[in-house]
Amino acid sequence: MLILILHGPNLNLLGTREPGVYGSATLETIHAELEALAKELDVEIETLQSNHEGTLIDALHGTLKRPEVGAVVLNGGAWTHYAYALRDAIASITAPVVEVHLSNIHAREEWRHTSVTAPVCAGIVAGFGPLSYQLGLRAAVDLARRGEAQSSTHVGSS
Ligand code: DQA
Repeated sequence: MLILILHGPNLNLLGTREPGVYGSATLETIHAELEALAKELDVEIETLQSNHEGTLIDALHGTLKRPEVGAVVLNGGAWTHYAYALRDAIASITAPVVEVHLSNIHAREEWRHTSVTAPVCAGIVAGFGPLSYQLGLRAAVDLARRGEAQSSTHVGSS
């Protein structure tokens, strides 16, 4: 089973970007921690960061032709707050999406309190720094396994 880890704009700068808000962990460190957890959970992960919304939308669409993708973990960055096309892409796919944020978006500026993507995601984890991704991966694997179990129950049942 494969879990897709998607990061939106500016998250390539983690480690040096506003460390007071986002901490000192780089994306590489976060990925290394996720790789270790993925091994423990017996799943594969694939990671992608882009500053271009269409690239993330294409990756989400791509899951429709990749049955091995059981779920997606997504940090949409600032797109979270206004990107309706990203929201519609999430709503258009069958794989469950777990929204994650390093910071607690509800404790920050008011414009960050709105997530246009959250209503079409399975759930949200926010405010725990890099741990948000690990909790998100655990949730994604759980959702994917439940989905798998459900579809195998339906095979051959009338
Ligand atoms: C973020 C929160 C967003 O508001 C912000 O624009 C980001 C990062 C987070 O992980 O805390 O880029 O998604």
